[in-house]
Amino acid sequence: MSVNTPPATPAKRRPTIYEAYLRTDELLALQTPPEDRLHPDQLTFQVVHQTFELWWKMTVEMFQQAVARLETGRADEAAQVLRRAVSAQGVVMLALRQLEFVAPADFLVLRAGLGNGSGADSPGFKAILRTAPDLWDAFAAALEDAHISLVDLYADPHAHTALYECAEALTDFDEQFHIFRAAHLKLAQRNLGLRAIGTGGTPMPALERTLSDLLWLPLWEARDALLEKVQRETGVVYGDAPISGHGHP
Ligand code: HEM
Repeated sequence: MSVNTPPATPAKRRPTIYEAYLRTDELLALQTPPEDRLHPDQLTFQVVHQTFELWWKMTVEMFQQAVARLETGRADEAAQVLRRAVSAQGVVMLALRQLEFVAPADFLVLRAGLGNGSGADSPGFKAILRTAPDLWDAFAAALEDAHISLVDLYADPHAHTALYECAEALTDFDEQFHIFRAAHLKLAQRNLGLRAIGTGGTPMPALERTLSDLLWLPLWEARDALLEKVQRETGVVYGDAPISGHGHP
């Protein structure tokens, strides 16, 4: 070999069919390498967030499929896909738990690298909030086509089973989303305490107030209306105080 010959570049290994199909090279390069991390738990932090983005991306597609199915009179199939979206929330909730193993002192080390980054800018979270009203409109239109009000749907759960299953899957999703928000608040508090201001500028008490946000309020108001209807019809009333806010039976 002459002194001027450039060093041979190591032959690039051909990816296996598995690696190529799943694009594992790109996927596994999406986390900061160990030498550049502020703390080893940065890997957990990134993987958990990335997990959320993937499953929330799937959730939005499931919502869109549910809209298409509702618009073409297939409420039973809409309910099926909505149940899958509910189950996807179960996946991310398990992932969230992993972050509770990170010690607050360690979290504060990696927090220094977040700048003004905030979970409030999560594309998946924003896409769910953006798509939720379309899903509601499609469901409300399906109720209208069936000439049934939401409270009547709940008054007789056996009359329109496919629509009832949709309403319950939507209720489940709203509930799971709320539980995510509650678990996320506790996670934030156990890392940052009760008075911190988030990297995105939101004070902890303001984050706490998002717990009263619901995706589809009419689903919950239908329960109020059903209770009133049953009380009116049976004359059986517990207590005489009007119902205010939620959380009190
Ligand atoms: C150690 C873990 C975490 C901490 C300490 C934390 C903290 C916070 C804080 C303080 C906020 C308020 C906004 C701000 O000023 O930044 C926030 C918002 C938010 N975070 Fe996290 N977070 C954590 C993990 C996560 C994870 C894993 C997700 C999943 C994507 C997430 C998603 C969100 C969302 C969606 C919001 C906006 C909430 C709303 O507007 O209702 N966070 N987070």
